Order: sequence, then structure tokens, then C-alpha cells
Amino acid sequence: MSPTRQILITLAMLAYWAFAAQASTRGDLAKRLEPVGQVCIQGKECPGLDVAATAGGASGTKSPDDVISKHCITCHGTGLLGAPKVGDGVEWDKRTKEQGGLDGLLAKAISGINAMPPRGTCADCSDEELKGAIKKMSGL
Ligand code: HEC
Repeated sequence: MSPTRQILITLAMLAYWAFAAQASTRGDLAKRLEPVGQVCIQGKECPGLDVAATAGGASGTKSPDDVISKHCITCHGTGLLGAPKVGDGVEWDKRTKEQGGLDGLLAKAISGINAMPPRGTCADCSDEELKGAIKKMSGL
């Protein structure tokens, strides 16, 4: 095989690989963006079922414990990156005063603050669900 031909084949393979990799990422993304209700079709395989179940079932509300254990505990359980720990009354008290109350804390949790990611990584948590989690963690 001539060197030119070899280079061409390598390029074609690379192009295909890049295309395939991108396509699969797009597919995954589209799947993740699909609303849960549309993923489950009666009589078909239901890959979204566990998501629907953990999202709180029919009522659609996540309990504070659910939100905390799935999203907040990673950092707020141990104080990772300087996060106020669950049940650390003194630290939460200080922050509550700084932000002017629970709603102030909620606003920071929604927007994110320093190492604290927006919505504490729970993109599909409602404001009320976040508030419930903050209440529980802070003991307010
Ligand atoms: C990746 C780690 C991480 C996760 C996950 C996380 N937090 Fe935080 N959080 C932090 C850090 C770090 C701070 C302290 C930020 C600072 O004051 O510098 C913080 C601070 C806060 C504060 C106080 C904000 C303030 O104004 O003082 C609230 C409220 C809060 N988090 C709520 C939540 C909730 C609710 C969740 C789960 C839905 C959550 N966090 C998940 C890291 C995290």
C-alpha cells in the first residue's frame, strides 16, 4: 500500500470515528432531554421507569430526604469544599443571617455560590423542593 493511500485511509477512519462519537453524544443528550412521560410507552421497554419512580411518582414532588440524599449530601454531608454541613446549626444560622433568611439561602442555592453548583446539581428540582432540602439540612 502506498503511503498516500495509507494516510487517506487513516483520515477516513478518523473522520468516521469523530462522526460516530458525536452522533452517540447527541443521541444520549436527546434521550436525557426527553420528558419522562414520553420515554415510557405502554407495551414497550421502559428505560425511564426508574427515573419516574425516584422522581416521586405520581405527585411529582421529591421529599427533602430524597433531594438531600441524591444531590446535596455529597458535599453537605462532609463539608466538602467548605459546604455547610447537614445539621451544623451554627454555620447555617450564620449563613441564614447573611442571606436574610430562608428565601435568601434558596436564592443562592438556585444561582449557585462559589463552589456550590446551581441548584446543588439537581437541575430538575423545583424551587419548593430545594427549599424543603435546605430547611431540612439547616434545621430551620
Ligand atoms: C458540589 C458540592 C455541592 C453540592 C452537590 C451541593 N452543595 Fe450546597 N454548597 C456547597 C458549597 C461549597 C457551599 C458553600 C459556598 C460558599 O459559601 O462559598 C454550599 C452552600 C450552600 C448553601 C448556602 C448558601 C449561602 O448563601 O451561604 C445552600 C442553601 C446550599 N448549599 C444548598 C444546597 C442544596 C439544597 C443542595 C442539593 C440540592 C446542595 N447545596 C448541593 C457545595 C455543594
